[in-house]
Amino acid sequence: MTRRVRKAVFPVAGLGTRFLPATKLVAKEMLPVVDKPLIQYAVEEAFAAGIEYCMFITGRGKAVLVDHFDSAPELEAMLRDRGKQEPLAELLGGRPKAGTILATRQQAPLGLGHAVSCARAFTDDEPFAVILPDDLILSDRPCLSQLIDVWSEHGGNVIAVEEVDRSRTANYGILDVAADDGRVARAQGLVEKPQPDVAPSRLAIIGRYVLDPKVMRALESTAPGAGGEIQLTDAIRATLPDVAIHGLRFDGMRFDCGDKVGFIEANLAFALERPDIRPRLVQSLKATVAALEAEEDRTGMAQRTSTAVDAAS
Ligand code: G1P
Repeated sequence: MTRRVRKAVFPVAGLGTRFLPATKLVAKEMLPVVDKPLIQYAVEEAFAAGIEYCMFITGRGKAVLVDHFDSAPELEAMLRDRGKQEPLAELLGGRPKAGTILATRQQAPLGLGHAVSCARAFTDDEPFAVILPDDLILSDRPCLSQLIDVWSEHGGNVIAVEEVDRSRTANYGILDVAADDGRVARAQGLVEKPQPDVAPSRLAIIGRYVLDPKVMRALESTAPGAGGEIQLTDAIRATLPDVAIHGLRFDGMRFDCGDKVGFIEANLAFALERPDIRPRLVQSLKATVAALEAEEDRTGMAQRTSTAVDAAS
């Protein structure tokens, strides 16, 4: 068996209904954080972590995700002619080597597990990564590299995790923790989207995985679970006790770009990292905060006045 993680699967068939009307014609993974689409962040993270081949699991209307990584001869020639070196370099730098981006169609929205299983011929009998581009991570070292480090030590399945508020467990896959050193937790079970009162912990799965090939085999017989969908979480759990499951509390800040507020926060955080944008943005943020505080003061004062009037009458 290959002892390297060379392949990554990107489930990108989702419709992005939470971002309508923006996503009526545009794939949600094409929404930009600052000036780069989510899918490009995901692919760049994969290559930075040593991945050689990326497989997109797409759906109808999402061919643009593959097109985005193709050459753009007219645009490149135009930039060259006009001497626009910087955007040209950016464009060429973002284009992966031919043959490294592959794609197949999920055909029907049967769940994340089903989407991943569509890559079975691609992963073959190798360990593989799964990246959900909605989860965008700002970190010094790519989150996937951090997972691969832990995988090199423990093997098996390694998943990115984050502590969430108990009220939010029903949005995530949750670890049933057997041992925990505060950074890496070994799981004795996984539950997809448990209600807060039955969640075995608050350690939630974030969209980065390094998985054993046995997960692909387990997916062949995984029945629909939470939400009536074939869940990746269930297939990973099914490889226990044969294959270990470790959760890594990665270093970095994660943004849920499938959520409007998360997406806006990601834009702010990534923009603040950019020296060409930061100074003006900081100024504008300070002005916005000052205006908000002034508004709160005014409403607070108005409320206090009306309470005092009520008390006096
Ligand atoms: C998926 C997984 C879930 C995980 C989450 C992370 O859920 O099924 O286990 O916690 O991604 O973003 P989804 O967000 O697709 O409902």
